[in-house]
Amino acid sequence: MGGSANGSGNEYDYEHGSSGVNGNGKGNGNVDGDGHGRGDVPRAMKMQGALMLECQRHLFSLPDDVHYLNCAYMSPLLRSVEEAGIAGIRRKRVPSEIAPADFFTDRDRVRALFARLINAPDASRVALVPAVSYGLAVVARNTRLEKGQNIVVVEEQFPSNVYVWARLCREAGGELRTVRRPEGRGAGAAWTERVLEAMDEATALVAMPHVHWTDGTRFDLLRIGARARELGAALVIDGTQSVGALPFDVQAIQPDALVCAAYKWLLAPYGTGVAWYGPRYDGGVPLEETWIAREGSEDFRALVHYRDAYQPGAVRYDAGESSNFILVPMLVAALEQVLAWTPDAIQAYCAALTRGLLDEAAALGFGVEEEAWRAAHLFGLRMPAGVDLTRAQALLAERRISVSLRGSAMRVSPHVYNDERDIDALRTALRVIVGAP
Ligand SMILES: Cc1ncc(COP(=O)(O)O)c(C=O)c1O
Repeated sequence: MGGSANGSGNEYDYEHGSSGVNGNGKGNGNVDGDGHGRGDVPRAMKMQGALMLECQRHLFSLPDDVHYLNCAYMSPLLRSVEEAGIAGIRRKRVPSEIAPADFFTDRDRVRALFARLINAPDASRVALVPAVSYGLAVVARNTRLEKGQNIVVVEEQFPSNVYVWARLCREAGGELRTVRRPEGRGAGAAWTERVLEAMDEATALVAMPHVHWTDGTRFDLLRIGARARELGAALVIDGTQSVGALPFDVQAIQPDALVCAAYKWLLAPYGTGVAWYGPRYDGGVPLEETWIAREGSEDFRALVHYRDAYQPGAVRYDAGESSNFILVPMLVAALEQVLAWTPDAIQAYCAALTRGLLDEAAALGFGVEEEAWRAAHLFGLRMPAGVDLTRAQALLAERRISVSLRGSAMRVSPHVYNDERDIDALRTALRVIVGAP
């Protein structure tokens, strides 16, 4: 990538790039459960005094012999979400049963549920978006970048949260700063430090995740948010790989925007997403001028009396036809389930399930991030030297273990439908991959 790290003698290690993506192109809550499903899953476990979730596989339709440890790729379908979708399809049989109020009710339910999930007091700040790229395009549309200002991103973050900033920098004569991933012990902690060091008076915006999508590295958004406020920079978070499985509190972190695709940890269908916009984007310009975003749109007879005023809050940023009568009820059902479990309990479940595996992987020579700087629901196992990745991939496929290979790391992303059998299958596969007895 362009510009060497520390090229200008700075202590921190970020990349300078004046415009583009420079370089190499990296550029219902059955908490008690009844233990059915695979049969011998552990009963409720006690952890730190709190009752832990039991395995929730019975709420999904995963075949018994599939070890799906890949929610970071795409979540499997909850039965409740499937039913909501089927009901949504059937509704179209008799359109007269879809009333004008139905264009609003479920959308507002999504706003309320998502606001609860992220501890946001005002649900009208939530918009329905079809993709992260859309939610971030809203931010870019409402960002005035001056020549010489910079936008900070982290290395190898998801492209939907890079291309948009690369274009903005290119068009405004700004600088895209890419903060490199440190290596070796303490890398997780050091990455947050590097982000803080890369931010300065010329920083207009910091666009980053809470948890890195490739290897699960966690960032300290409390500190990064505080520094952004000191500098007057916007903090824009892509919560796709964390919100739903890891607690996120907008009142504590105080981002300016939080955008999430919902088909992973929010357990909803592809094509659904949610975004929360803070006061910085109040009264902004939407990407589309939808009829439903205008004041009084509830009165269908009066739609031809065009109105200048918008509905309150972030409703103006909703994508067109976001009242989708199939997808939105599915998103509602998914959010209800996530809230019933709670992200805290999901995180605790995944931590308890994988702790032994991570210790063993480390002993086998895989690189594992320190516990404080990795997420329990998404983590990378960096392959020991000499491992044949193509062979490893074939071996995993043969054993019906679904994980993702990202670069030289294996990305493992469990959820509450996983149990000891999945972990045992992966543990055995890791031993075979490194040729351990
Ligand atoms: C961190 C992250 N953000 C966003 C996305 C999806 O982006 P979009 O909704 O723009 O397709 C993914 C998909 O893997 C992701 O991992």
